[in-house]
Amino acid sequence: MDARDVESDLVNILFTEEQIQDKLAELAKQIEVDYEGKDILIVGILRGAVMVMADLARAFHRHVEMDWMAVSSYGSGTKSSGVVRILKDLDTDITGRHVVIVDEIIDTGLTLSWLTSNLSSRAPSSVEICTLLRKPDALQMPVDVRYVGWDIPNEFVVGYGLDYKERYRNLRDIGTLAPHVYS
Ligand code: PRP
Repeated sequence: MDARDVESDLVNILFTEEQIQDKLAELAKQIEVDYEGKDILIVGILRGAVMVMADLARAFHRHVEMDWMAVSSYGSGTKSSGVVRILKDLDTDITGRHVVIVDEIIDTGLTLSWLTSNLSSRAPSSVEICTLLRKPDALQMPVDVRYVGWDIPNEFVVGYGLDYKERYRNLRDIGTLAPHVYS
């Protein structure tokens, strides 16, 4: 669906489908340059990163391998503890591999900070992060992010993989959710 289908639920459209595709093409190009002559494994973090993975992977003009992880914070409401549980691990042995973790948003930074150190402990050649969005004002944990699409304000955004109660993930654009939806 697109923003018109949920118009009254959104305060604004932050990024259109077209802007997102252009940004992913830019990011893919940067990654291609940086990893010239090297194999890449891109790792998507379920579930929100599905859209970014699908479109980023297809924006490459070279081969990339894809794998997936699913993680969850321990218990609800304890996200700030930074303790993460692996629900689905990689199928790939990443020893000696160049890994790029792909996510749609970095909020507090806790998930990606934990994941980076977890994957780094498996003796890869390198681990970098690519995220479409980042909220600098929400960061609680420093995360070294090599590829960022956009920095955004600390607002409730949905679409393109980002959900509110599992809805809006299939929205083509990214928008700010209207308070009446969640309050
Ligand atoms: C989102 C996103 C990141 C994480 C970022 O996933 O995909 O993995 O939150 O938040 P943080 O920087 O505060 O740790 P979420 O937990 O919403 O799960 P989902 O991808 O299944 O929606």
